[in-house]
Amino acid sequence: MNQKENCTNQYYIARQNSTESNARSYPRKFPFAISKAKGSWVEDVEGNKYLDFLCGAGTLALGHNDPEVNQAMIDLLASDAPLHTLDLTTPVKDEFVHTLLGLLPKELQDNAKIQFCSPSGTDATDAAIKLCKTATGRSSVIAFHGAYHGMGQGALSLTGNLNAKSKVQSLVPDVHFMPYPYSYRCPFGLGGDAGTDAACEYFERMLKDPESGITKPAAVILEPIQGEGGVIPAPVKFLQTIRRVTKELGIPMIVDEIQCGIGRSGKFFAFEYADIVPDVILASKAIGGSQPLAVVIYNKELDKWNPGAHAGTFRGNQLAMRAGTTLIKRVSQPEFLNEVVEKGTYMRDRLLELKKKVSIIGDIREKGLMMGIEFVDPNATPDKLGALPGSGEIAADIQHRCFEKHLIMERGGRNGAVMRCLCALNVTRDEINKMLEIFESVVMEVDAGAKK
Ligand SMILES: Cc1ncc(COP(=O)(O)O)c(C=O)c1O
Repeated sequence: MNQKENCTNQYYIARQNSTESNARSYPRKFPFAISKAKGSWVEDVEGNKYLDFLCGAGTLALGHNDPEVNQAMIDLLASDAPLHTLDLTTPVKDEFVHTLLGLLPKELQDNAKIQFCSPSGTDATDAAIKLCKTATGRSSVIAFHGAYHGMGQGALSLTGNLNAKSKVQSLVPDVHFMPYPYSYRCPFGLGGDAGTDAACEYFERMLKDPESGITKPAAVILEPIQGEGGVIPAPVKFLQTIRRVTKELGIPMIVDEIQCGIGRSGKFFAFEYADIVPDVILASKAIGGSQPLAVVIYNKELDKWNPGAHAGTFRGNQLAMRAGTTLIKRVSQPEFLNEVVEKGTYMRDRLLELKKKVSIIGDIREKGLMMGIEFVDPNATPDKLGALPGSGEIAADIQHRCFEKHLIMERGGRNGAVMRCLCALNVTRDEINKMLEIFESVVMEVDAGAKK
């Protein structure tokens, strides 16, 4: 093998293209091979450094290779502790469980059960739906427009985006989608508080209407902040209405905290903003401190499962539990969470200044360090609320140019029109400034060429 050749991004990309499935997605946007990673930075095989504001799709809450998290794993590896234990217990698991459950609202903490899943968010979603169907004996499930709960057939059935769904026949039946408040593109054409009120009203009436056509559901599942859907935080009133109505009707409420949880929003769990207590919580991504881990936490009243009702070989990843405990202890500190809020506010304010200067940014949404910048077509006709159509092309151009300037950011939202920030939660002010410098210059550049 040519020594020089295997040092190039091109070499690895070509080999990846020839062997990996056509479903690969990130390499199409970020055509490089990573050889090193530290904090908010990654380095490719050619020695170029990139600022990583994607961080494993929000998994790396403390960035790459956090020294404390890594040391905890190194110590475990050196200790002869088991690394793989199915669902058998260990001191490492016990500490993880009690650390995590200790962060729940008191009402749930006293009644909480946890299920370790195969280590992906999609399996946690499936497990939660199975749990609620078993407990209630019901079949239908309510999900929301714009939702993302994973790519397995069960989770995909609950997901809004039609791209992946439309190619797969016979997904799980009896899933019904309800409007999720999205002020900028209000499903009711109202926007603001009126749009939220309409979504609340519709939800309540639909569930209480004996002629709605939907049988009483086994569960209502939602993200307190939609991530892949375009970074859309649910208004407090909406979350509170869902909690009140589901409680009144005896329907389990599942909150999917897989992306917005574990400090990302500036609270440990994003549902805490609404001061509600859900029946079921899904957690994955950051919960394993960079390692694969997924859990369902739920009220023990729902625990009608028989032994083995949800199994999976890789539920006992001890490295992930040790790394997760280390991360959770740090991220749940009030000072840490306050800093997440401060950094998010700083970024948002800078981005709002940028929005004033350009015609291609339609909306900016933020909750802690979960941020979305929605790009629009400045030459199109606005809708009746004044919003221009989203532009996936402009957002893709921005993403591409950011990558060329060594900033990694993902897109999401309808037609991929939203650029999203999922940086490390311990990102520094200097790194944020660097990101903003690149992002601002790219947006100005694209804006200059966009207006006809
Ligand atoms: C809110 C939410 N739920 C579920 C999932 C699925 O998780 P995984 O990709 O680990 O299956 C994701 C992944 O992005 C997510 O953001």
